[in-house]
Amino acid sequence: MSNLTFGIIKPDAVAKGHTGKIIDRILSNGFKIRGMKLIHQTKKNAEGFYAVHAERPFFGELTEFMSSGPCVVLALEKEGAVKAWRDLMGATNPAEAAEGTLRKDFAGSIGENAVHGSDSDENAAIEIAYFFSKLELV
Ligand code: RTP
Ligand code: MG
Repeated sequence: MSNLTFGIIKPDAVAKGHTGKIIDRILSNGFKIRGMKLIHQTKKNAEGFYAVHAERPFFGELTEFMSSGPCVVLALEKEGAVKAWRDLMGATNPAEAAEGTLRKDFAGSIGENAVHGSDSDENAAIEIAYFFSKLELV
């Protein structure tokens, strides 16, 4: 099991001023931040990132939203990082997210749900490489 995962503080959470609170929760839950930057994605960049969802009905809306404003991209380290980060994020739909999760506390809807997390070790490596150069990973 890899100890790295990739996360995004999505444009809705950044716009609402939740960045600092979410980073605090990441650190207090035992993650080490190995990479972090504030970026504003182009639509093309977001389409490349979410290419696996290209055939889904919400793809246009999703990539429009992800390129609508600044977001924070993160490389996170913890034992069993992929699962640990998804546990901290909570369910995709905030209405179903458990107490104490980031989506419960910060997400407004299934489309604008505050955070992203990789769904496997393999995708974590791909997603980290999509956004970070070697120099940007400590
Ligand atoms: P993410 O990839 O963003 O971490 O979220 P996830 O694994 O929990 O959910 P996934 O199935 O991978 O879906 C990716 C993102 O697409 C948006 N979505 N909208 N309108 C809808 O029914 C719908 N379903 C998914 C969400 O923003 C979700 O996070
Ligand atoms: Mg996903």
